Amino acid sequence: MRTHSCGELTEKNIGEKVVMAGWANKWRDHGGVVFIDLRDRSGIVQVVFSPEVDPDIHRAAHRIRNEFVIEVQGDVRKRPEGTENPSIPTGRIEVVARKLTVLNECRPLPFVIEDETEASESLRYRYRYLDLRRPAIQRNFLVRHRAVKAFREYLDSRGFLEIETPVLTKSTPEGARDYLVPSRTNPGHFFALPQSPQIFKQILMVSGMERYYQIVKCFRDEDLRADRQPEFTQVDLEMSFVKKEDIMGLVEEMIGKVFKDTNGTELAEPFQRLTYHDAMQRYGTDKPDLRFGLELKDVGDIVRESSFRVFLDTLSRGGMVKGINAKGLAGYSRKELDDLTREVQGYGAKGLAWIKVRDGFESPIAKFFGDQTLRNLAQRLEAGEGDLLLFVADKEDVANDCLARLRNEMGRRLELVRDGVYRFAWITDFPLFEWNEEERRYEAMHHPFTAPDEEDLEKFFAEDTAGRDGLRDIRAQAYDIVLNGCEIGGGSIRIHKKDVQSRMFQLLDISPEEAQAKFGFLLDALQYGAPPHGGIALGLDRLVMILAGAHSIRDVIAFPKTQKAVCPLSNAPSEVDARQLKELYIKLDTEE
Ligand code: AMO
Ligand code: AMP
Repeated sequence: MRTHSCGELTEKNIGEKVVMAGWANKWRDHGGVVFIDLRDRSGIVQVVFSPEVDPDIHRAAHRIRNEFVIEVQGDVRKRPEGTENPSIPTGRIEVVARKLTVLNECRPLPFVIEDETEASESLRYRYRYLDLRRPAIQRNFLVRHRAVKAFREYLDSRGFLEIETPVLTKSTPEGARDYLVPSRTNPGHFFALPQSPQIFKQILMVSGMERYYQIVKCFRDEDLRADRQPEFTQVDLEMSFVKKEDIMGLVEEMIGKVFKDTNGTELAEPFQRLTYHDAMQRYGTDKPDLRFGLELKDVGDIVRESSFRVFLDTLSRGGMVKGINAKGLAGYSRKELDDLTREVQGYGAKGLAWIKVRDGFESPIAKFFGDQTLRNLAQRLEAGEGDLLLFVADKEDVANDCLARLRNEMGRRLELVRDGVYRFAWITDFPLFEWNEEERRYEAMHHPFTAPDEEDLEKFFAEDTAGRDGLRDIRAQAYDIVLNGCEIGGGSIRIHKKDVQSRMFQLLDISPEEAQAKFGFLLDALQYGAPPHGGIALGLDRLVMILAGAHSIRDVIAFPKTQKAVCPLSNAPSEVDARQLKELYIKLDTEE
């Protein structure tokens, strides 16, 4: 139907006859001449309807409303001097309409279609097809398309086979809550939607596929946030006969290509590496934003010399006192500090201690510290005149978590996080086990098929490890990839030997019967000549969110779910017929 798309017209086309189709984006009447901005996916072009050219077409243009679908035939001409719009690519030309056809009308809109919309999220998602017309959102899907294409091209060039795995399957070991699907043909039995293809990709290695990948939907019923959706997409891969360095090297090269093909960015290789231990010490989190410093410092040894009870009591109970230097913020008012304290208490801290470095030291707790102690604190935090020192005393995990979040907040306030800067890190040497305080038992930090570090195998098999505190020190051959403070991927070398896998379950207090019931098909497969193997999964939505400069993964997912895991467009989830339930042998107990 068209000779040109709207966004491609430039001065080169002046004098040409063109046919275009698209949506009426904006309508203006200037002294008897009607201007309509015609929009299609490629961009916007200005169309002029003048009574001098054709009185009929000018009258017809008056009937056009926002988002009518129209076809325009006309001539491209240079815009008159002084009316150019340099902010759009077609801003030096306009199209003089000779013929106008209305292809379809449009009801009055629930919200205006423009990049900076004020419409609420629920309204936007209810009319997602209109929301997706916004050029800024459409650009995100171009980025997503290019990224996926680059992943496929790269993995194909490296000999990976794209293989699909089942969606109707069994529980996988990622540890979130499952989405269940009742089986009509097997009353009382349920499929689980996969939290990842983990088990199947390992089985594909036993099958001799050697290099597998899949761009795949995963399902996890967890509490949602800006970077979490109940269904999301992984770039999932697995390789045989590799060490973790091979996988990390390949992923770096692959991400390098994705950035180059998607937005032209050349990444500096190799990515920074941090052990889990160092990341926790220096940043309080295993997903540090490395675009800025503001590192956490342990000041326990220094404040031990003070008489500040809060700090001393925390230390005597085995807790920690850590601080950060909010550079240059000694000018904060009492109110600003009180607000900041409340914010950090919202993270879970009991309080926030502060010291201003301004003509000496200014702080409500300065009286508990000798001059030398204050100078030592300033030195540890590399403080100078005008700095603000902030401290949290608590159990190690609480202190780290609160300060990590405070660090991000101060990074934002100090405008240290800049768009267009990409700082990657590999986090390595994760602990194999993690203590679950609620259930009072150890669980696998990544998943129970992750191999222990070869150097720690002796500890792993040692009898007295069953005494359990030794479990904390065993490292895993696991790695996460972090970009600008966001975990965009994780993987590991897997256990491929039966004795190691059995010991793993034993240490996790999973009985052989339970292991067989849950993962028996993988455990069986591992006994039939399983090659050494490992892999990784990247969170595609998160990566594209960062590539596109979006702030939520919902902006890079065509039909996302809300915070309450519903789809306002389709109204899913919804009630079903009594007959459907009966076929599935399901009775509802909605009173509960
Ligand atoms: P993991 O559970 O770390 O590993 O998941 C891999 C990556 O997927 C992304 N991700 C999510 N993105 C959006 N919404 C969610 N709810 C969500 N959950 C996870 C993250 C994460 O880093 N089978 C293993 C991989 C392996 O060992 O090979 C796995 O799934 O970016
Ligand atoms: P208080 O002795 O409770 O009046 O507290 C004195 C100062 O120490 C206040 O600024 C509190 O916010 C701060 N504070 C209290 N508990 C902690 C803690 N666990 N870590 C850091 N600062 C704290």
